[in-house]
Amino acid sequence: MIYIVMGVSGSGKTTVGLKLADWLGLPFHDADDYHSPESIKKMSQGIPLADEDRIPWLEQLAGLITRWEKEGGAVLACSALKEQYRKTLQSVPHINWIYLDGSRDTILGRLQSRHAHYMGPSLLESQLEALEKPAYGIHVDVSLSPEQIVQEVIKKLKHMIPLSEFGVIGLGVMGKSLALNLADRGVSVSMYNRHVPGKEEGIAEQVINENPSVTNIKGFDQLEEFVQSLDKPRKVLLMIYAGAIDAQLETLMPLLEPGDVVIDGGNSYYKDTSRRTKLLSAQGLHFVGTGISGGEEGARKGPSIMPGGPRQGYEQVAKYLELIAAKDKNGKPCTTYIGPDGSGHFVKMVHNGIEYAEMQALAEAYSLMRYMLGMAPEEIADTFSGWQQGGLGSYLLEITIDILRKKEDGELLLDKILDQAEQKGTGGWSAAVALDYDVPYDTLSEAVMARALSAMKAERVKAAALYKSGYTPADTDRKAFVSSLKNAYQSTRIINHEIGFNLMREVSVQLDWELNFSEIARIWTNGCIIRSELMEDLAVIYKTSDGLLLSPALADSMRSWRKDFAYVVAEGLQHGFALPVLSSALNYLLGYSTADSPANLIQAQRDYFGAHTYQRKDREAGMYFHTQWKE
Ligand code: 6PG
Repeated sequence: MIYIVMGVSGSGKTTVGLKLADWLGLPFHDADDYHSPESIKKMSQGIPLADEDRIPWLEQLAGLITRWEKEGGAVLACSALKEQYRKTLQSVPHINWIYLDGSRDTILGRLQSRHAHYMGPSLLESQLEALEKPAYGIHVDVSLSPEQIVQEVIKKLKHMIPLSEFGVIGLGVMGKSLALNLADRGVSVSMYNRHVPGKEEGIAEQVINENPSVTNIKGFDQLEEFVQSLDKPRKVLLMIYAGAIDAQLETLMPLLEPGDVVIDGGNSYYKDTSRRTKLLSAQGLHFVGTGISGGEEGARKGPSIMPGGPRQGYEQVAKYLELIAAKDKNGKPCTTYIGPDGSGHFVKMVHNGIEYAEMQALAEAYSLMRYMLGMAPEEIADTFSGWQQGGLGSYLLEITIDILRKKEDGELLLDKILDQAEQKGTGGWSAAVALDYDVPYDTLSEAVMARALSAMKAERVKAAALYKSGYTPADTDRKAFVSSLKNAYQSTRIINHEIGFNLMREVSVQLDWELNFSEIARIWTNGCIIRSELMEDLAVIYKTSDGLLLSPALADSMRSWRKDFAYVVAEGLQHGFALPVLSSALNYLLGYSTADSPANLIQAQRDYFGAHTYQRKDREAGMYFHTQWKE
């Protein structure tokens, strides 16, 4: 679609044209930039242009208009004073004419305040004389401010411009990638990014310019204009920092209408999501708290999407989420309705807890191979590749192999990266929730603690000197150890997933969410960070069984690996390696598979000092006893 903003010099064509182009997500062109040097000279000498000066210029523009139309449209600022000129420009079937109308005095006032332009006030008279006001198009009074003019134009254009099906707020890495993913799949998208002087300026425009082949996106830095550009009921995806959601909702909600849907696709805390769901529903709006996993590449090409909240809202956006999600091995989208309230964000939070421990387990396996067995990074990468091909395939293992091969100036980049793991909170939140619900959370909480401990770099350096500690290489059979390590690693992964799913199971029961674990595993088989072959198995196992460790098929394997598991952990600890996730997984397995534990002593101690009472093995369950321990 071509839009031509026309009017005499000084009517504000360039300012209005630029703003309109921004709103429409189209490139802007100024016809003045195409005048011949002779015409520019004439005008700067105050000599009005004649028709013979203008005709070749208009013909050139007509050619460009044909090209711009093919490229997806454009906004052109051009005086186009006479009907004959407009006919020359009309090289495509339809042009939207926007005429900036104003009194002689208003325009003269504007021209007098304009210094740098070659069109001085002296030419205005000749322009007004030449002007033949169009009897068609949109006419706007130029005494309004440029913003008001654009608002007027938008209002009038609305019935002509197709509204966008979907809106995305926040054009950071994830927001931008999701917006482009939607657009690639044929959805018209309006994008909004706030304007922060000196920091975030013209971000939406930048996205449009960087993606010239994507024609169904519009960019905004005015929230009102963004909302106006959306078809009703509006569907708005927030891709902003979790801490900024409340403030964004405060400005967005007054612009929305009952029935509109707001999706929060960031890593928000699920209790905040439940609160926001209620807040929006009181205004007739639907709030769909949605976990999205897959990083930048996932967002652009197909993430795993975990929407929760009111079903009615979900149903309005389901088709879009299914369109952009990754596909599982049967071609089904890696997204499903998770459950009510904050369940989508809750499930994503647990996903991240599992992610943290999977990453830490790989780091521990790497450290044993590198520093205990003395293997070179290349050799470790080859070993991991063998695991990747041999049934242990996962996205995190795949990227670890790449990392172990990445060189910078001939040296391993990994060796130059500071060993302080950072975190944005999701793993820690999930550990805190596990404590709230009394669910053992061994591997996942250990992974969070390991990151926290790693962050104490300065203290660690001092302590290493004080304790004269460090890794000691082991004189073990490398091949045999690596084979045991593989078994320890796969045992750890099974336990880690078991623990994560156990937390989801408990919370689902307590909050009546009716989570479907086979479906959750299925939507995690592709697109997300913890996608793996194991996840494919879980999607099947959870169809019929509640727990992994009690599944007979897995129990057989776990039993056969247990000795190797204990050997690896013991050797590693002996040689100075902290193995928080591997060792806590082993502890979990041992604790879980111990029929008679020393917890009876704990009960006795509690009763001893606090008369907390205990149950007995030799009496009916549920009966409590107290003993006077000291005579
Ligand atoms: C995902 C990730 C992502 C997470 C980053 C960073 O599923 O795509 O989990 O959501 O934000 O991995 O998390 P940390 O900074 O806490 O490591």
